[in-house]
Amino acid sequence: MKQLHHLLLYVVFVVSCSNHNQFISNSGTIVKNAMVSSAHPLASATGLGIMKNGGNAIDAAIATHFALTVVYPQAGNIGGGGFAVIRMNDGTINSLDFREKAPALAHRDMYLSAEGQLNDLQSTHGHMASGVPGSVDGMFTLHQKYGTLPMSELIDPSIEMARRGYVLTPLAAELLNTKQEEFQTYNRWSTPYHSDQNWQAGDTITQPDLAQTLEHIQSNGRDGFYEGIVADQIVAEIKSGNGLISLADLKNYQSVWRKPITGNYRGHQIISMAPPSSGGIALIQLLRGTEGYPIADWGHNSFKTIHLMAELERRVYADRATYLGDPDFIDVPIDKLLDSVYNQKRYIDISFDKATPSVLVSSGKISPSESPETTHISVVDANGNAVAITTTLNSSFGNKVMVKGAGFFLNNEMDDFSSKPGSPNQFGLIGGEANAIAPHKRMLSSMTPTIVTYKDKLKMVVGTPGGSTIITSVYQTLLNVIDHAMGMQEAVNAKRVHHQWYPDEIRVETDALNENVQNDLEKLGHRLRITDKIGRMDCILVLPDGRLEGGADPRGDNTAIGY
Ligand code: GLY
Repeated sequence: MKQLHHLLLYVVFVVSCSNHNQFISNSGTIVKNAMVSSAHPLASATGLGIMKNGGNAIDAAIATHFALTVVYPQAGNIGGGGFAVIRMNDGTINSLDFREKAPALAHRDMYLSAEGQLNDLQSTHGHMASGVPGSVDGMFTLHQKYGTLPMSELIDPSIEMARRGYVLTPLAAELLNTKQEEFQTYNRWSTPYHSDQNWQAGDTITQPDLAQTLEHIQSNGRDGFYEGIVADQIVAEIKSGNGLISLADLKNYQSVWRKPITGNYRGHQIISMAPPSSGGIALIQLLRGTEGYPIADWGHNSFKTIHLMAELERRVYADRATYLGDPDFIDVPIDKLLDSVYNQKRYIDISFDKATPSVLVSSGKISPSESPETTHISVVDANGNAVAITTTLNSSFGNKVMVKGAGFFLNNEMDDFSSKPGSPNQFGLIGGEANAIAPHKRMLSSMTPTIVTYKDKLKMVVGTPGGSTIITSVYQTLLNVIDHAMGMQEAVNAKRVHHQWYPDEIRVETDALNENVQNDLEKLGHRLRITDKIGRMDCILVLPDGRLEGGADPRGDNTAIGY
């Protein structure tokens, strides 16, 4: 444990001295044995410390997850949920759904007025926006099946960081300063994240309430969160703002093991998340549509490559809106959506002479977003076990409500349902009946934790936040490595674009496309919208010689470290 303290202190020093955006390198950290990539250097260091102490990839991912709750509160969480995709070194694969659920008292029209008007503030802000959190159950369920070190050792570093405090990076201070008004509006008390003056890089935040909550979890297991004092605190908080989560909702929450979605792309096997995430299905549909075209010859972010991606994306997101939802409630036609003949037919009307207006695109004939403030963890251990976990509060700091006395933010995941089928959610995503609200149902997600193998050997562990852009960010990162021959960091640094059917536009990161490409796309009928940042990837690539290259996104404080 002493070693871990030294490592954390070193990382604090490095972070306070570095300015990420000044030194963007195309070469990632390269190590021989094991690696963690996550949204925060202290969280990555925590996971690495666990592996150095003998833990495996799953132990490290769990410890990293709890650490993100402390040092990356905009998305790291115990008040949210997520998905994990696992590949052990014997080739077995698995995935865990610890997505939030609608409370028992939720109902289809809960965000509609008597006149049928959507009150989207209620599904995004404040107590009514929260689904029943799944993260703590998820971590214990993962640990029970795959963990090797005692759970208490995996939570210890986070308790310590919450108690001693952590140092704000420039990006973290800047983000907190934009949220002060919302924190004040939605909280009855002064949380550790309130400040009358602007937060500065280098300021330290201590979280004694959160430390105590983590200790309850450490002492009592999952029941330390879903029953007893913490559950009482959650329900008291929820009731104070007319939310719906009850003690019974908490007690009854259960994660679900799901069969991963798998498919092939140019000789690679893709292993990703099944519904209630749309990520795996949409990713495989996009790759199936891409496989027939020589995009390596066309070039990265060239006119033809971008046109093809946008045309595929608008069709795949139309399918997502119609067919995808919680498989425990609706019959999701997984096999049909992944069928190669279906996908061939689906894309047959793509023309290279003109863009297809989205209004002419509906779902294919066979029998919904998320916020930039989700977060992802990729881990590979020295034995080649790999795990990809994407987890979220939905929006940045979720519903902005910190549970009084317990010190953590609650999610606003209810907005990922189609509150009014046909109306867009906060990400502009349109959803249908398949994703309508129902008691105990899980809301559709875009999270796409993904593992790639080649010739039966681990090749990549990939994932990102970014709401509706998660799927297309993962898609582009795979294409960057597989088609455009980029290394991991280069593939992550590369500028991204995104289309999601509606709104009918290609979102383009600043400087992603040169002027000629932009003009050519506009001539075909595409509308372009320049945007700041898309995604914050955390990835690991196994190099041909077996070493690991990290791809930590320079768009955030993301950090890949290993040994
Ligand atoms: N909350 C975003 C998603 O799950 O897609």
